[in-house]
Amino acid sequence: MSTVPERRPRRLRSSAALRELVTETRVHPKDLILPVFLREGISEPIMISSMPGVQQHTPDSLRRLAVRAAESGIGGLMLFAVPETHDATGSAADAPDGIGQRGLRLLAEEVGEDLVIVSDLCLDEYTGHGHCGVLATDGTVDNDATLDRYTSMALAQAEAGAHLLGLSGMMDGQVAACRAALDAAGHTQTGILAYAAKYASAFYGPFREAVDSQLKGDRRSYQQDPANRREGLLEAELDIAEGADVIMVKPGLAYLDVLSDVAQAAPVPVASYQVSGEYAMVEAAALHGWIDRDRVIDETLTSIKRAGADIIATYWALEWAGRWKDSL
Ligand code: PBG
Repeated sequence: MSTVPERRPRRLRSSAALRELVTETRVHPKDLILPVFLREGISEPIMISSMPGVQQHTPDSLRRLAVRAAESGIGGLMLFAVPETHDATGSAADAPDGIGQRGLRLLAEEVGEDLVIVSDLCLDEYTGHGHCGVLATDGTVDNDATLDRYTSMALAQAEAGAHLLGLSGMMDGQVAACRAALDAAGHTQTGILAYAAKYASAFYGPFREAVDSQLKGDRRSYQQDPANRREGLLEAELDIAEGADVIMVKPGLAYLDVLSDVAQAAPVPVASYQVSGEYAMVEAAALHGWIDRDRVIDETLTSIKRAGADIIATYWALEWAGRWKDSL
């Protein structure tokens, strides 16, 4: 005996127009931030082999990319600098004419009216040992000595014109320390985007090539254990209490539960970072013809937004914004 359903959810799926009308989640180009790499001492852009389509830029090629980004209507750019020299304290990181500051200045001048310019405030690109902070004599990462380096970087990046400082080092107290230093120097309008919940993830693999990472070993003494969900909330609460304007959960797709928890609890905007390994996996599968690349990209971005992200950092930002425009 067949029963006749009283409720028919399929009714609202019966035409494209109905589906569009009742869709719960829409990604918009303004939600997206494009991470970009500027490498010191090169005369031509260099392809990053583990991230097809992503390059280490020269100042000129970065400038051209930034103009395209502004025209595409995305929300912002996040700059990672790849310096020529490394040392124990990462001394190029806060040099006024260091590669990071030069890049921020270039971006702020070229597209600072149209795009939010986000810095990366971390030492790992600059240190010879590749850790995100300075080392104590016993070889561990020294939290409080690192804070002194971070506050100095904060001032250098604010002076170079960054709108939001991307604190990605996972040192305890980094938001409070940088906020105090910025305010004391009169940079009251420079914001902080705190990587609140950042996990010690293997999904960062391709990024390490992108920034010529010097790291031997791992970051488990400061980045979070992928097994810990509740701890994501603690990190978010602390960063908000310390004055973070925006907080981030990183990586993206494998951490949607953490993102959802944080987004429900946070009274500030929440960002998610779809990281290099997430990008590389999709590109590699697509290269084999094993997935429908564009639909998978769309689905990942939609899922990250559905989980609660207001902002998504993604290497597909420009491309996705182009497709969005074409679909109008
Ligand atoms: C550290 C940093 C990392 C990423 C962004 N900032 C790597 C790490 O923590 O080892 C990874 C981004 C990506 O994988 O796309 N400053």
